[in-house]
Amino acid sequence: MARVALVTGGTRGIGASIAKALKAAGYKVAANYGGNDAAAEKFKGETEIPVYKWDVSSFEACTDGIKKVEADLGPIEILVNNAGITRDTAFHKMSLEQWSAVINTNLGSLFNMTRPVIEGMRARKFGRIINISSINGQKGQFGQVNYSAAKAGDIGFTKALALETAKAGITVNAICPGYINTEMVQAVPKDVLEKSILPLIPVGRLGEPEEIARAVVFLAADDAGAITGSTLTINGGQYMV
Ligand SMILES: NC(=O)c1ccc[n+]([C@@H]2O[C@H](COP(=O)([O-])OP(=O)(O)OC[C@H]3O[C@@H](n4cnc5c(N)ncnc54)[C@H](OP(=O)(O)O)[C@@H]3O)[C@@H](O)[C@H]2O)c1
Repeated sequence: MARVALVTGGTRGIGASIAKALKAAGYKVAANYGGNDAAAEKFKGETEIPVYKWDVSSFEACTDGIKKVEADLGPIEILVNNAGITRDTAFHKMSLEQWSAVINTNLGSLFNMTRPVIEGMRARKFGRIINISSINGQKGQFGQVNYSAAKAGDIGFTKALALETAKAGITVNAICPGYINTEMVQAVPKDVLEKSILPLIPVGRLGEPEEIARAVVFLAADDAGAITGSTLTINGGQYMV
């Protein structure tokens, strides 16, 4: 029986590539999204991957959404916590709303999504939890105190939960993408991208979403059971840890 994989924010950008790659690798995949119905319907039409709308920053919404996915497809064995947002501004101008939205969506979601599936994974003695963090959680970024704090938190969450779940056959890993060619990065003004970002990337280009997706497939595999608590850096050589 194919294992069931759930990808949050799985209808656009990196998450869509992850969902497609997991499906191609033989998993039964569900893709969650937050609000963009048109993009989700387009993705569903193209991939035949079922889509589920809920807000990952709400614990109740995650609990209900996961129940629906499990009723449709079976117990979730691979969870990819990918959904994320930015609300960039210098800290001295940052509102509580900008802080809370990013912390709740990018870090709170790891609790909201993982807590409802962890007991089942422990009982079945198998699980793969893959958290999409960011280079900016590793090194910090001007204008992203909220985002860098959340993404660094994702790495701490990964390490601590990896320790707690190691004996239960559950691995927990983080991936830290650098600048990847998605709408999130396409929103950066062209001159900023060309003058300030690309020159910092030794491979001389943005990463592609498929390059993150193949790492997720690698970590999700049954024979990746010894890889846990790791942080996989995929950033074209921009920041080496
Ligand atoms: N792109 C990069 O260069 C880069 C670099 C490092 C890390 N990352 C991280 O990689 C992940 C994916 O980034 P991306 O560039 O692919 O982003 P994206 O193209 O903006 O897509 C974000 C996805 O997350 C979903 N989402 C956002 N808020 C949500 C919420 N509250 N509840 C449920 N779903 C929600 C969106 O749903 P809707 O379609 O409904 O809006 C969408 O499917 C994020 O965690 C991001 O921080 C990205």
